[in-house]
Amino acid sequence: MSTLCSDQAILTLGGNEYKFPIVEGSEAERGIDISDLRAKTGHITLDKGYGNTGSCESAITYIDGEKGILRYRGIPIEQFAMGPTFTDVAWLLINGRLPTTAEYDEFSADLTRYANLDESMRHQFEGFPRVAPPMAILSAMINALSCFHPELHELEDESQFRHAAARLISKIRTIAAYAFRHSRGLPNIYPDPALRYVPNFMHMMFSQPYKQYICPQLVRDALNLILILHADHEQNCSTSTVRMVGSSGANLFASCAAGVCALWGPLHGGANVEVLTMLEQIHQGNITPEEYVKQAKSKDSKVRLMGFGHRVYKNFDPRAKMLGAIAEKLLPQLSAGDPLLEIARRLEEIALSDPYFIERQLYPNVDFYSGILLRAIGIPTNMFTVIFAIGRLPGWIAHWWEQNQTQANRIARPRQIYVGETHRDFVLRDNRR
Ligand code: CMC
Repeated sequence: MSTLCSDQAILTLGGNEYKFPIVEGSEAERGIDISDLRAKTGHITLDKGYGNTGSCESAITYIDGEKGILRYRGIPIEQFAMGPTFTDVAWLLINGRLPTTAEYDEFSADLTRYANLDESMRHQFEGFPRVAPPMAILSAMINALSCFHPELHELEDESQFRHAAARLISKIRTIAAYAFRHSRGLPNIYPDPALRYVPNFMHMMFSQPYKQYICPQLVRDALNLILILHADHEQNCSTSTVRMVGSSGANLFASCAAGVCALWGPLHGGANVEVLTMLEQIHQGNITPEEYVKQAKSKDSKVRLMGFGHRVYKNFDPRAKMLGAIAEKLLPQLSAGDPLLEIARRLEEIALSDPYFIERQLYPNVDFYSGILLRAIGIPTNMFTVIFAIGRLPGWIAHWWEQNQTQANRIARPRQIYVGETHRDFVLRDNRR
């Protein structure tokens, strides 16, 4: 809960003075509480893109964009490079603290137990065309899960919620792998209960019916870290979508399916695909890094330097720093060096010394290096954003539950400034000109 500050904000409007309380969070972040602004003044606020709007109070993730700080439940993101599993982090985000060994084992066992899809759900993949984008299948199938688990629409207590969360975190991996196999016309590979979260996913992606894919430790570690670094990022577009859908009382599956759709966009999770497309264009010699940056700066072009810039970070995105360092270390071992890494480094160098990017405080974001790493561990480009979704799911779930448990939850319903036609009369078709 935020605390009430002793000082107040004063708004002068039409000769009247209105006072609004100021609230403060645990990291001294302050907000003017305008809950009764319209009731008091008849005015609303206009904040396009919600850049100044706090939509909720949350205890899950803290970001200081100016200083480049990111913490999950208080723990700095850099400390997650020290070897926790994605399962650990998922539990932490959802439950607010690190799991004990017994809790970890139970959660891990649930993730193994729930990995299979209902057989009739498995057959539904056949109905999608081969070219269907895996993100579309992912969203549709997460939504479809609610048809197979009607008992989980209304979560009565914490234990039921935890089982629903484990089901979803486990099954998203299976759905993702089946979506990929379908796009390649390959038979589905059932989850292997002997494997942990990451190697099991890679097994379902790449094993053949006659030959099991053995996930190298290096690949496992890299993917584990990629998932962790994507696990939550406070009120980003997809998480806000999950919260907005959930605010209407929609169930966990439906809310997270909506989150997948929001993540798909190229300005959000879809940027990891766009980064790779950009790097490949440069690699193929279609354009030089210098020319690309020039286009990205031009107001006459729609080109942006993909993987650069962030609504919140006005400094290095700490996740990009970590991924860049890992790419540098792992790539020579994984794929004997990738020319795209060189191109990325060159783009970064040009942009970071260009006044356009300096003035606008545009730095590499999480998507700048994640695609290069994913490619190095064998993940096809059409699955990049799906991997982001698998990583982000624990965050979505944590936010959905936090909101669900908030007594004062109100349906999310912004207002607008109407700019359309003023009153006019309906005209019968015969009388229209
Ligand atoms: N390349 C060139 N110019 C840029 C870029 C970029 N990548 N990003 C922002 N700008 C410019 C923008 O044109 C504007 O210039 P001006 O003030 O002259 O009009 C200024 O910087 C501010 O940009 P904005 O669009 O108002 O910033 P925003 O906070 O609304 O958007 C963003 C943030 C991430 C959508 C944007 O920086 C962007 O489009 N980046 C490229 C896409 C990308 O990498 N997305 C991944 C985001 S991080 C992971 C995630 O959330 O999924």
